[in-house]
Formats: sequence, structure tokens, C-alpha cells
Amino acid sequence: MFKMKSSFLCTNCGNITSKWFGRCPECGEWNTLEEQEQIPQPAKGIKQNKVKSFAPAESSKAFKIRDITYSNNLRISTGIGELDRVLGGGLVEGSVVLISGEPGIGKSTLLLQLCQSIDASATLLYVTGEESVSQIKLRADRVGVDSERLFVLNETNIGRIIAEIKAVNPAVAIVDSIQTMFDEDYPSAPGTVTQVKQSALHLINIAKESGISIILVGHVNKDGAVAGPKVLEHMVDAVLYFEGDKQQTYRILRAVKNRYGSTNEIGVFEMGDAGLREIENPSELMLEQRPKGVSGNCAVCILEGTRPIISDIQALSTPTVFPSPRRMASGFDYNRLSLLLAVLEKRLGLRFSTQDIYINVAGGLKADDTSCDAAASLALISSLKDAPVPENLMVIGEVGLSGEIRSVFGIEQRINEAARLGFTQIALPFKAVGKCKGKYSGVEFIPVRSVFDLLKLLGI
Ligand code: TYD
Ligand code: MG
Repeated sequence: MFKMKSSFLCTNCGNITSKWFGRCPECGEWNTLEEQEQIPQPAKGIKQNKVKSFAPAESSKAFKIRDITYSNNLRISTGIGELDRVLGGGLVEGSVVLISGEPGIGKSTLLLQLCQSIDASATLLYVTGEESVSQIKLRADRVGVDSERLFVLNETNIGRIIAEIKAVNPAVAIVDSIQTMFDEDYPSAPGTVTQVKQSALHLINIAKESGISIILVGHVNKDGAVAGPKVLEHMVDAVLYFEGDKQQTYRILRAVKNRYGSTNEIGVFEMGDAGLREIENPSELMLEQRPKGVSGNCAVCILEGTRPIISDIQALSTPTVFPSPRRMASGFDYNRLSLLLAVLEKRLGLRFSTQDIYINVAGGLKADDTSCDAAASLALISSLKDAPVPENLMVIGEVGLSGEIRSVFGIEQRINEAARLGFTQIALPFKAVGKCKGKYSGVEFIPVRSVFDLLKLLGI
């Protein structure tokens, strides 16, 4: 005996409640609760804690880890080096990857370009629910996609899409976007959690059954979460975020989940007239646009996975008349900024409390590890004192609460990149200098023990 019970699901965070609320009690978003299809619940009379006995099934046997084998040749190179890097070395056969990002960031462009460059002999299928086939053709002409193996389908009914995937049997199927797809067995509108979940389930099943790799496109809402289907993130094998400022031309592809690789890697692209171009040396690009001889700028080397990228930390400090000054951080942790300001104020007696402070990492990068502390502090002091940081100087180190500068991981990789790009002075925590001296020609290592030494770097 079962009785039906309705439940409400938040399209923003995936929280399930038994009552409807105007505002989700979990994430605080308004008007996001939707009634779900009714789930059968056991009636009150049935004992819920009764143990049922199950017969062993042949298909659900546990294996010894030593006996499990796998084939090595599982990855397909996408032909786009930056995308392969983020995927962990290529697209895994039978995997489901979700690429999400704001509308207009370049998801469709990237995937269309993938259809041209991918290293697969089988056919490819591009399913679009957003654009007509002629719109796709127009874009394909623009970015130079003319593959004989590429099929394009304009359809939103998931049943028909699955049938076509079976008929075409491609190596890779792209579904753009999952929010436009619907399963006709469910009455709700496309884009709702139920529809997104059902459509994704069908696609995941076919990927696992047939070994076809499937790439899903998902839109994000204003907060940067994959709109509605937060639920999708744990169903798929990898989740990639495509981000960047639409006004700027750089785009950064990040893995936030990857069952087949690291989530530390990033891919850097530039949007141009003929689609996306890979940027193999992002540091060079970031440094091209550095302002010269201006206070408040300091070069910093950020490690993204195994890849060092040099960018600029920019600080701006301006006097304020208000009792609570403004602090704004973009690409830098807000709390870390407050901590650094407190250390500099206490140890060096600098009066940041009467200043509005803005800090920004150029190029839309995120300097979220502590190795950027010393560089951020130097940029802050430089802006306050209006004394420019020498152009060819780089500082690496973490700032402690006593004002000491501590060593960080990956120092050698950072120095290699800095030396390659022509930095001739590198300020390092005292202990690290001993290890690096003499290894690099043309680079002067300056030991810094505490934030006092940062003042010396500026000649104050
Ligand atoms: P698109 O790939 O459709 O973004 P998404 O699928 O993520 O919504 O479009 C990206 C934007 O880039 C679009 O506004 C137009 C622009 N664009 C270029 O600047 N150059 C190009 O070659 C292409 C194809 C698009
Ligand atoms: Mg698109």
C-alpha cells in the first residue's frame, strides 16, 4: 500500500521541502521552489525498518581490485590542447562532460570547433535545441568548420534525440543545451529540474551503454551556479566552467569536477573573429598590457595546477572621508585582504584605515593561494606611498600575522617562469634564497624576512 506525497524542489540549490515556501529555506533564493512529480511513499501501517532479504544477483558481484582490468586506449584527443589539458588528457570514451558558462561566453563556439579538430575517425553529432541548423552552419562557416563527419540535429525531444544518437552512432554527441531538452513522459516545461534531470539521465545511460562520449552544455544563473540543475553536477563525470569577462577577449576554462583527472588545470582562450584561439603562453599576454612606472602594480606568479601564470596584482588606495572605508577585492580573497591590511597597519604603522582599498588581479585570474600575499602587500604599500614597484621585480611569499614572510610551495616552477619572461630580481623568503642562488644566471635573488624588507624593495 502506497500513498502519494508531493514535495517541492528548489531549482537553485536542489533542496527538497515538504511544503511550498516563497523563499528557499536553504539558499535564500526567492520563487525557486517547484512542485515535483509525486513520489510514492510507504503507507503508515508498513514497518519501515523491516529487513528485506535479497537474493544475490550475477550482475552485482563485487570484484577483487587486482582482477579488474581496463583498456588503456580510452581517451580521444579533442585536438584543442587547452581543452585536453582541462579534461586531464582528452575526452574519455563513454564519459559525460558538462560545460557550463554564461550565455554568450563561447560554449557553442568551442564545441563546434572541437567537431573539426577532434581526433576521431567516427562521426560526430551536434544536437542543438537553441539554434536552427542554418544558424549552426553560418557559425561553422565563420570558424572554419567543414568536417565531412559532422551531423547536426535540431531537436528538443530527448526520446527522438536518443533514437538519432543510436542511428548515427557517433564517437561524440554534443547536446546544446540541456535546459532546452524535455522528456514527453513528464508534463513540466523544459528547463525545470525534473526535465533537466530526466533528459540528462537518458543521455548518461546511453553514454555508459554504448561508449559514446557526451558533452552537455548548461547555462549558469546570475550567481554562477549551473542554473536549476545543481543536481546535474553529481550525475556527470566532469564539470567544466567557461568563464571570463564578455567585454574582454580572454576566456578561462576550469574543471570543477573531474572523475578522470585533476581539477587544478585551466585552459586559456581568446575570442577573435574566427572563433576561439588557444593561448599557450598566457603570461606573455598578461605582461604585454602592464602599465609601466605606475604605483600599485606588482607582478605575481600564480600556479594553476602544474602551470605557472604571471599576472599583475593591482592595488588602489585612496583617502576617504567616511568612517567605514571601502574594501573591494576582485580575483583576491576578501578576508585575506583584510588580514594583510591589518598586518601592514600593525607592523609598519601604515594608515590604511583612512583609505578606500581596491585590489584586482589582471586578466580575470584568481590569486587564491597564500603565495601571492607578499606581492599583494607590496602593491598595497606601493599605492599608499605612491612609489612604483620596479618593473623587473617579482616577490614570492606568504605573509604571517607577525609580519614575517614565509616560504610557499612550487617556488622553482614560479622562478623558472619569471626568469623565462625576463624578471631579473626575485625577492624570496630568506630560507628559499639559499636553495636558489647560483641556479639561474642573470637573476638576482633578494632575501625578504618580514614586511619591513618590502619597504626596502620600494626604496622607502
Ligand atoms: P556562443 O558560442 O554562441 O556562446 P554560448 O554558446 O556560450 O552562449 O557565442 C559567443 C559570443 O562570441 C557571441 O556573442 C559572438 C562572439 N563570437 C565572436 O566574437 N567570434 C566568433 O568567431 C564567434 C563564432 C562568436
Ligand atoms: Mg550557445
